[in-house]
Amino acid sequence: MTKRVALVTGGTGGIGTSICKQLADDGYQVIAGYYSGGNHEKAQKWQETMAAEGYDIPVAFGNITEWESCESCIEGIRRDFGSIDILVNNGGITRDSTLRKMNKDQWVDVINTDLTSVFYMTRMVVNDMLTKGFGRIINISSVNGEKGQFGQANYSAAKAGMHGFTKAVAQEVASKGVTVNTISPGYIATAMIMEVPEEIRDTIRKGIPVGRFGKPEDIARVVSFLAHEDSSFITGANISANGGQHMH
Ligand code: CAA
Repeated sequence: MTKRVALVTGGTGGIGTSICKQLADDGYQVIAGYYSGGNHEKAQKWQETMAAEGYDIPVAFGNITEWESCESCIEGIRRDFGSIDILVNNGGITRDSTLRKMNKDQWVDVINTDLTSVFYMTRMVVNDMLTKGFGRIINISSVNGEKGQFGQANYSAAKAGMHGFTKAVAQEVASKGVTVNTISPGYIATAMIMEVPEEIRDTIRKGIPVGRFGKPEDIARVVSFLAHEDSSFITGANISANGGQHMH
């Protein structure tokens, strides 16, 4: 049997890298989607680093906030590797600010990158999945979409929106072997949380019952579980992985 094809958006980032490696270890043909503001060299270097570690993971350029760019990214993958069986919508950004100071760009950029992109990418792969009778759509949301976060009206709204999207689409595709789920990571030790001022970061860490920030691998193992052929009865779910920071 040919390998299933998995696309991870934001695949060269902190959590994305770990997801790519895990899915490659699981035996899928993994492709790392990247944007990096068009910095192709950075992506090439990432690919070389992966190769040095024994991972053959091609990269595919795409600006997930633009429909046409998503289209050409997906088309290229379809041409080179076949249709996508597993889509991990992982790419995202933060533009933290209290609402009273938040400008229009901070709102629009986060909604487009973290939520509208999920519609674009999912819309572009879902028909192939339905035709094939198999598909896994895994949306990487956030604990802050579940509980809200001071300074993240934009991000919390986008990540909560992902939950609604997941539940709606899951119902539409359930009878055709396609599952749609959300993972809500807590604070994972990546560059994204290093942008949070140290004092605030320390306070957040103290509020995590397991006593540490998460590791990217803590999220990758949940992706691996949901992507598995045998996880076919889990759909429309949201799996929290946050060290106990938020229980509900
Ligand atoms: N709850 C209540 N009040 C708070 C507060 C909180 N959590 N944090 C700050 N405040 C208060 C301050 O004490 C201050 O009060 P006073 O005006 O009375 O002194 C006031 O709010 C500061 O308000 P400002 O609008 O001036 O805020 P700022 O510009 O100094 O900073 C911020 C705002 C940039 C959002 C900063 O609070 C911050 O970085 N917060 C962290 C946000 C965060 O957790 N981001 C997560 C990033 S990682 C990620 O998102 C990944 C993931 O999925 C988990």
